[in-house]
Amino acid sequence: MSSNKPVKSPVIIDLKFQRESVVKALRNAFAGREVIDMADPANADRDLGTAAYAVVWKPDPALFEKAKGLKAIFSGGAGVDHILTTYELPDLPIVRFVDRSLTDRMSEWVVLQCLSHLRQTLTYAHQQRDHIWHELPGQPEACDVTVGVMGLGVLGQDSVAKLKVMGFNVVGWSRRPKQIAGVETYDAHGLDAFLGRTDILVGLLPLTDETRGVYDRSLFSKLNRHGALGGPVFLNAGRGGSQVEADLVSCLEDGTLKAASVDVFEQEPLAPESRLWDMHNVIITPHAAASSEVSALFRHVDSQIARFEDGLPLQNVVDRLTGY
Ligand SMILES: NC(=O)c1ccc[n+]([C@@H]2O[C@H](COP(=O)([O-])OP(=O)(O)OC[C@H]3O[C@@H](n4cnc5c(N)ncnc54)[C@H](OP(=O)(O)O)[C@@H]3O)[C@@H](O)[C@H]2O)c1
Repeated sequence: MSSNKPVKSPVIIDLKFQRESVVKALRNAFAGREVIDMADPANADRDLGTAAYAVVWKPDPALFEKAKGLKAIFSGGAGVDHILTTYELPDLPIVRFVDRSLTDRMSEWVVLQCLSHLRQTLTYAHQQRDHIWHELPGQPEACDVTVGVMGLGVLGQDSVAKLKVMGFNVVGWSRRPKQIAGVETYDAHGLDAFLGRTDILVGLLPLTDETRGVYDRSLFSKLNRHGALGGPVFLNAGRGGSQVEADLVSCLEDGTLKAASVDVFEQEPLAPESRLWDMHNVIITPHAAASSEVSALFRHVDSQIARFEDGLPLQNVVDRLTGY
């Protein structure tokens, strides 16, 4: 007996993620829907015309030429610069990945880095290596330090809340004005005032035409130079294209910046010859602050497709004009 249920349109997967994590997550994803996994060589010459959805991270440029029936594109991560800046995209909704696991991971990274610089872990690690028993004098408390968060979106606002729990003073900056209880916020016009208050700057901006190269010498030199840490600290977990790396290196060398924690770089992987690797005042993580959990990504896509097919609006749709 044939079922009257409409056939679910296929979903294309083109994720340049660690392969095993995708294969494993696909085993329990998209029930009743055909999955076209582009990493499977058997799909190389597949007709993609029937697929209505694509889940992508740095996809094959030809994908959007071949998949002419798409109704929505789902980014494999919170950022969408990997597709907006690289491809001629069809005029379709692009949905960002917004998920508790990713948000929690980012806040863990931000709080960890702020605490690491507050509690002088780089210096203690060097002392330990040299078997030196010496308590550093004048240890400030979190409440003596102001963290300035650039980007008050999903990730920025969660980081703000968790930094407050740790006792830091927190100020925030975003394009449009924001009201966040207990936090002084600044909009685009208040950038200099925001920087002047900030001891630890946290970059959680998306990469767009406006934010490319925003973290440069001029910006670093406006940070508070008289704070409890003895010099400003820079953290970036947004996108590497927002930092001018030559300026970052020279500001760390001449004391404009006291220290940095950097997760994202102009070129990834960071070149082995980059001076940043060997700087005693820098913590480097390999774009690992908040990786997408692939099962959570597929659950999010599945629920968004269900909304879409029920006639409800998609959530976290990218504004193509602002680029995030
Ligand atoms: N390192 C990692 O592992 C990792 C993981 C996930 C995400 N990320 C990065 O983190 C970024 C932020 O994610 P999210 O989910 O928080 O994004 P989001 O919710 O879209 O928030 C973006 C924030 O940046 C602000 N903004 C954008 N352009 C601006 C500009 N020109 N001037 C001032 N403020 C501007 C926005 O201001 P308004 O509020 O006024 O719109 C908003 O507050 C992502 O785009 C991605 O690049 C990194």
